[in-house]
Amino acid sequence: MIEVVGVGYEVVLPSRERLTVLEEINCTIETGEAVAVVGSSGSGKSTLLGVMAGLTQPQRGVVRVDGWTMSQASEEERAAWRLREVGFVFQNFQLLPHLTALENVALPLWLRGERRAEAIARVWLERVGLEERVNHRPAQLSGGEQQRVGLARAFACRPRFLFADEPTGNLDRKTAARVGALLFGLQEEEKTTLVVVTHDETLARSANRWLRLEEGRVVEEGRRN
Ligand SMILES: Nc1ncnc2c1ncn2[C@@H]1O[C@H](COP(=O)(O)OP(=O)(O)OP(=O)(O)O)[C@@H](O)[C@H]1O
Ligand SMILES: [Mg+2]
Repeated sequence: MIEVVGVGYEVVLPSRERLTVLEEINCTIETGEAVAVVGSSGSGKSTLLGVMAGLTQPQRGVVRVDGWTMSQASEEERAAWRLREVGFVFQNFQLLPHLTALENVALPLWLRGERRAEAIARVWLERVGLEERVNHRPAQLSGGEQQRVGLARAFACRPRFLFADEPTGNLDRKTAARVGALLFGLQEEEKTTLVVVTHDETLARSANRWLRLEEGRVVEEGRRN
């Protein structure tokens, strides 16, 4: 469970002006649920995701993960937690261009000392329907295929928490729908706690719950019927 209590975050601009990015955020992400964060550009969605993932330390408020006060932990402790329990999916896929699909999925497993990295990666590429593309490099894959590699890479480490920032933002409508369905399908099967930032209302409606941000505040919340 992730609890965000009274979180505020501001940045100092080069002009020395202060800009409040997160005004006052209160929300809870329950274990095993999928929550979509929606809202207009600049409303603070990516910043909130960074706060929940411990990448950004808020100046005000508290972030707790399963009772652990992450917002008071050191950079090293937060990095160690991310390595153990957190996965990411990015809008621009972030695959390594010189590695094959198989190597891209296996790499984080290797880095964790997993000896069966390649076998596990192969199974995950099958689960996302890419068994015929294991030896392709990212440039030889379509956008949708690249994001399926991104999903395989994220889920292969069995993260408890998965953060996805606009995972379908670079895909056409039809491909986005397929990748979105795959993301929520895997999340449900793996019981991963998922927070997904999206402009895609269809994707947001597939989540268990959604939060709408406006100017650094949660202004609306909804639940799937
Ligand atoms: N480090 C920073 N320095 C300056 N401004 C920042 C910084 N981080 C965030 N901001 C500003 O805070 C606001 C919110 O940024 P954020 O990236 O969270 O928005 P977003 O809701 O994800 O938008 P988008 O939908 O366009 O991705 C923006 O106006 C952004 O320019
Ligand atoms: Mg963003």
